[in-house]
Amino acid sequence: MRRLIIDTDPGVDDAFAIALAARHPDVDLLALTTVAGNIGIEHTTRNALNVLAMCGREDVPVAVGAHRPFSRPARSDDAHGNDGLGGHAGNIGTSKASVDPRDAVTLMVDLLTAAEEPVTIVPIGPLTNIAVLLAAHPSIKSKIERLVIMGGGIEGGNVTPAAEFNVWVDPEAARRVLVEEDVPVTLVPLDITMKCAVADDWLGKVSAANAVGRELVAMTPHYREFYKQEVGTDDLIMHDAIAVAEAIRPGLLKTTPMALEVDCTDGPGSGATIADLRNRRAPAGDRLVDVALDADVDEVLSFIHDELTSRY
Ligand code: BDR
Ligand code: CA
Repeated sequence: MRRLIIDTDPGVDDAFAIALAARHPDVDLLALTTVAGNIGIEHTTRNALNVLAMCGREDVPVAVGAHRPFSRPARSDDAHGNDGLGGHAGNIGTSKASVDPRDAVTLMVDLLTAAEEPVTIVPIGPLTNIAVLLAAHPSIKSKIERLVIMGGGIEGGNVTPAAEFNVWVDPEAARRVLVEEDVPVTLVPLDITMKCAVADDWLGKVSAANAVGRELVAMTPHYREFYKQEVGTDDLIMHDAIAVAEAIRPGLLKTTPMALEVDCTDGPGSGATIADLRNRRAPAGDRLVDVALDADVDEVLSFIHDELTSRY
């Protein structure tokens, strides 16, 4: 059984990611913790509760995390519409569950402390909560099996030419987690998520399979249109679901150890993840992150398809 905590800012692709984990028989989904990112914290928290309810998992605790980045004002784009779920949030039903009385970091500490086996944390939004967790509770790192983070782009960005959205929103938090800390990390950047694109036929099958698939696909038109305008693809890019797939099935993605830096300036490279691609051995002491750059894309997409169509 794989114990997961998903730190999330739902988010259309976050909803796919949550649905992927929510009913997997090999996953013990310990909690969702929310963060401001795709939209404000009230929306991301409400969306987290309602997506879990849609998946029949109102029992999973949801705790509220950071309402803004670590040391800069919130910044966002319109990829996920004005409710975070592509204008579809009002159609998926309302959870009867309440948020956990603890804040996100306190809930993570409590769950990690109580866990008898290490826990995988899957951050799929800005890294604010995770930076605070690691900075304030360094001894808890021994209870973290690894972080499987959706974020960054080695070859370039999506929200700017240089930066990927989750890192761009809170570069200081990302730098803390990716450069300064020493917890095991698998980074799932744009380089692999953009390859795992799905088109209408794939979405049609997921939509036709069950009510959860239908609601997930109904969230996607605004998000797809945004990507069409900004990035030039007609397909759906399920960034966060690719990270959760790797967390559920370790080794699904092929990783390369890399020394990273994060651009925390306010210049044109703000929020860029810079990998040292020079042909050299990393000096002793360099922090290396396993960066997922490749995969058997058909295998990844079949896995997600089969899970979404069979578990609901
Ligand atoms: C990331 O940013 C958000 O828009 C998505 O939910 C994903 O986590 C992709 O850059
Ligand atoms: Ca996200």
